Amino acid sequence: MNKLIGPKKIDTAIFISGKGSNLKNLYKFSKLKISPINISLVISNNRNAKGLLFAKSKKIEKKVYNFKQDKNCEKKILNDLKKKKINFICLAGFMKILSKEFIKKFNGKIINIHPSLLPKYKGLNTHKRVLENQEKFSGCTVHFVSSKLDSGKIILQKKVRVFKKDSLVSLSKKILKQEHILYPKAINKIFSKC
Ligand code: GRF
Repeated sequence: MNKLIGPKKIDTAIFISGKGSNLKNLYKFSKLKISPINISLVISNNRNAKGLLFAKSKKIEKKVYNFKQDKNCEKKILNDLKKKKINFICLAGFMKILSKEFIKKFNGKIINIHPSLLPKYKGLNTHKRVLENQEKFSGCTVHFVSSKLDSGKIILQKKVRVFKKDSLVSLSKKILKQEHILYPKAINKIFSKC
């Protein structure tokens, strides 16, 4: 991450697909003086993502790509990132798997938040599987993105207790709350090492 050293905040893109609560939270964090990031681009694969409305309200440039229809969308995104001089990417509820080539181009500069204690429960429907297996603990993980899904180096994790009375709604709420604390912490951890 040596290239990221400097007095200026790191121009960062957030990739979203849905609600965007992590986007909102990271935006709030980015506005703090001590924050190492500045959010200057939002990318979404879903034009109905609620997070786009937030980006609009904060006048953050946003781009929407249809990954299914547009075979060249990753190339276009790379172009957007170049134009905005983006040096760091946070995936926040982004539901598309990026290609190996894309990840290679941004090697070590893409991070993701996943709602489980990785390496347990990679992939989708984590809370459902956690409840079905009657786990006593779950949580969230911030990790570097590698070409293998949810398998890159772990930056930080937070454990959360799962109770018998927990439902999908209560568990996801509880974990999302912790995600909002963990994501900024993980970003600070990365950049404090530079
Ligand atoms: C979060 O639980 C995140 O961990 C997962 O998708 C959810 C996105 O939530 N990958 P939001 O769109 O940031 O509100």
